[in-house]
Amino acid sequence: MRVLAIETSCDDTAAAVLDASGVRASIVASQDLVHKPYGGVVPELASRQHVTAILPVIERALAAASVGLDDVEGVAATYGPGLVGSLLVGLQAAKGIAFARDLPFVGVNHLEGHLLAILLDRPVAFPYLGLLVSGGHTSLYVVEGVGDYRLLGRTRDDAAGEAFDNGAKMLGLGYPGGREIDRLAADGDPTAIRFPRATLKRGDYDLSFSGVKTSLRQYLLDGGGAPLPDVCASFQEAIVDMLVTPTLKAARALGLATIVVSGGVSANRRLRARMEADGARAGFDVAFPRFAYCTDNAAMIGYAGRERLLRGERHSLTLNAEATLPIGVARAARAPEAAAS
Ligand code: KG4
Ligand code: ZN
Repeated sequence: MRVLAIETSCDDTAAAVLDASGVRASIVASQDLVHKPYGGVVPELASRQHVTAILPVIERALAAASVGLDDVEGVAATYGPGLVGSLLVGLQAAKGIAFARDLPFVGVNHLEGHLLAILLDRPVAFPYLGLLVSGGHTSLYVVEGVGDYRLLGRTRDDAAGEAFDNGAKMLGLGYPGGREIDRLAADGDPTAIRFPRATLKRGDYDLSFSGVKTSLRQYLLDGGGAPLPDVCASFQEAIVDMLVTPTLKAARALGLATIVVSGGVSANRRLRARMEADGARAGFDVAFPRFAYCTDNAAMIGYAGRERLLRGERHSLTLNAEATLPIGVARAARAPEAAAS
C-alpha cells in the first residue's frame, strides 16, 4: 500500500510517501528562522506557516517519490499531541485528500511515530525499551508491538529538550537550543562543573529536569566563569546522565535486550555516544533512528499509519486534533465498514 503521510504537530511542516519498499520520499520544511527571533515556537506563527507550506511540501514529497495523487492508496496524519492550530493544518489537508480521492484515512499519535521510527531503518524484535526524548516529552515505554505501549515513567516537570532549550536561552545561544549546546559542548570539558543529578527512588522510572535547569541559572547568577563550551558540556552531561542511568536500570529490571532512543533529543551526539557505550558494556543492543528520523518528520508517521492501514484500521473524517493525547489511550480506530466516508 502506497501511503501519503503528513506531520504538522509543532513547527515543522512534513510530508512523506511510503510503500512496501520503505520510505520513497520524506520532506521537512523547517520554521526555525521564523521562530528564531522569539527564542521559541510562537503557536500562531507556526500555524500560519503551516498553511503556507503544507501544499508545496505535499507536492514536493509526491514529486520526490515520482508519484502523483492518483498513485496514493492511503493517507495518514498526526492528530496529536501537539499545538492544536498546527495539528489542524496537516490533519485537515490529509482528510481533504482522503475525502476528495475516497482513500482510507488514519490518524497517528505523534509519540507512536517517534517510538516506531527505528523500524524505518532496521528490524527490532518486540518487546523493546523505548526512551522518547523530545521538546515536549521525556518518557520510558515498553514497546510490546505496533499500537501496544506500556508507560513506565515520565518526567515530572520539564522535558529533556525543554531543559536543553531553556539552558541555551540562559546562555544566550541561538534557537533551537539543544543543537547549539550539542555543537558547543563538543569542545568542552563535561567534568568542569558538577551540576546536580536528580536521584530516583528504587523501582521508580520517573525523571526530572527542572533541578538541573535551576542549578544552571544559579551558577550564572553566581557569576559563572567557566568557558562557554565547558558550561555546555557539563550541563549536557548532567542531562545525559539523567537519561542513561534510569534507562539502563529499566532495561535491566525488565529483562529487555534492546533499547531504542527516539525523539528530537536523540539527535544529541553525547547522548548517542554514552547510551551506546554504557549500553554495550551492560550487554544491551542500543538503537537510534538516523538523524533525519530523530527530529519531527512524516516518514515515522507514515510507518505507524501504514501499519495501521494495512491492518484495516480507519478513522472517520470527523477525527479532531488533540493537544493532549497520551499514548495507549489514542482514540480507537474503527474497522473499515464502520468508518464514516
Ligand atoms: O521531537 P522534536 O523534533 O519535536 C518535539 O516533538 O518536541 O524535538 C525537539 C527537541 C528540541 O527541544 C530540540 O532542542 C531538541 O529536540 N534537539 C536536541 C538536539 N537536536 C534537537 N537536543 C539536544 N541535542 C541535539 N543535537
Ligand atoms: Zn516530536
